[in-house]
Amino acid sequence: MGYKVVVAGATGNVGREMLNILAERQFPVDELAALASRRSLGTEVSFGDKTVTTQDIEQFDFAGWDIALFAIGSDATKKYAPIAAAAGCIVIDNSSLYRYDPDVPLVVPEVNPEAVDGYAKKNIIANPNCSTAQMVVALKPLHDRAKIKRVVVSTYQSVSGSGKEAIDELWDQTKGMYVPGQEKEPKVYPKQIAFNVIPQIDVFMDSGDTKEEWKMVTETKKIVDPSIKVTATCVRVPVFVGHSESINIEFEEFLDEDEARDILREAPGIMVIDKREPGGYVTPIECVGDYATFISRIRQDVTIENGINLWCVSDNLRKGAALNAVQIAETLGKRVLKKG
Ligand SMILES: NC(=O)c1ccc[n+]([C@@H]2O[C@H](COP(=O)([O-])OP(=O)(O)OC[C@H]3O[C@@H](n4cnc5c(N)ncnc54)[C@H](OP(=O)(O)O)[C@@H]3O)[C@@H](O)[C@H]2O)c1
Repeated sequence: MGYKVVVAGATGNVGREMLNILAERQFPVDELAALASRRSLGTEVSFGDKTVTTQDIEQFDFAGWDIALFAIGSDATKKYAPIAAAAGCIVIDNSSLYRYDPDVPLVVPEVNPEAVDGYAKKNIIANPNCSTAQMVVALKPLHDRAKIKRVVVSTYQSVSGSGKEAIDELWDQTKGMYVPGQEKEPKVYPKQIAFNVIPQIDVFMDSGDTKEEWKMVTETKKIVDPSIKVTATCVRVPVFVGHSESINIEFEEFLDEDEARDILREAPGIMVIDKREPGGYVTPIECVGDYATFISRIRQDVTIENGINLWCVSDNLRKGAALNAVQIAETLGKRVLKKG
């Protein structure tokens, strides 16, 4: 016997990937419901070799459903996640709404699978921010060996991290550069994204950090270790899919670059591609559609006693969102629900 699974936000970037990944990984689905807003009522979405018709979340009864994977943004999640959870359906949520709630586990299965066991307080499990997810997969095995003191991270985040309208904005602005009369003003982003980079993701906070930067700091502490200090600069780049990160790590103990490479090669969810030659590293376009978090450019930071630099790339719609959510469902199945 398998599970009755709901995908909420099935017409979006993350929701469509959730459907693909549930099918690819043969998650034991007995019955599947695809939900979105009323705007999408009747829209057909693919689930493996089947087609599923989208239902209006407003009219949906969550009673009797086991797991709901949510990717509908914080506002709609605020309305519908408590309804689903109260009906006994366990919500795995991709929005930031519940990530910082002490009664909601924030889970990356390669890092803190045991945290799933705390789901029952609210019947909700949170999925981290896309930039956090790939970074903590890389940090955890190194932390276990040499204890991380501080991380300095700069991100290069693709537009698919801001939803389907952002993908259209990059596409339309790029075309508009070449076709007179088709220039497109920024709507999703505060400045032009085509042929540009924007050092602002999410809103500014009083500290001068953006909310995205704050999320990376706070989520890394919750998932890996509250003692780790993180400082982040998050930048939007004109890439459709795939987030990249330059990560500088300072450890308590010395960690040689070759040992760091060996540790990462053995670590779950990681693929090391690290040849010191032109092209001997991974770029975002190469990670699209993959499950792995790719690590390249592993090298000693000789300006501090115990430092390592590395380059980290992953498909933000997969490890950063849909894959991680399905992995949480798998972990929940193995550790708690035990069906399938
Ligand atoms: N993209 C990423 O890399 C990423 C990573 C981590 C987390 N997330 C989070 O995942 C969520 C979805 O992101 P996305 O990139 O998939 O966005 P998206 O492509 O814009 O899709 C949004 C989805 O939410 C649905 N939706 C919006 N408002 C709704 C409402 N009031 N009621 C029901 N459904 C509603 C949309 O349905 P309609 O088509 O009917 O409008 C659509 O299915 C967001 O919370 C985002 O922060 C995204």
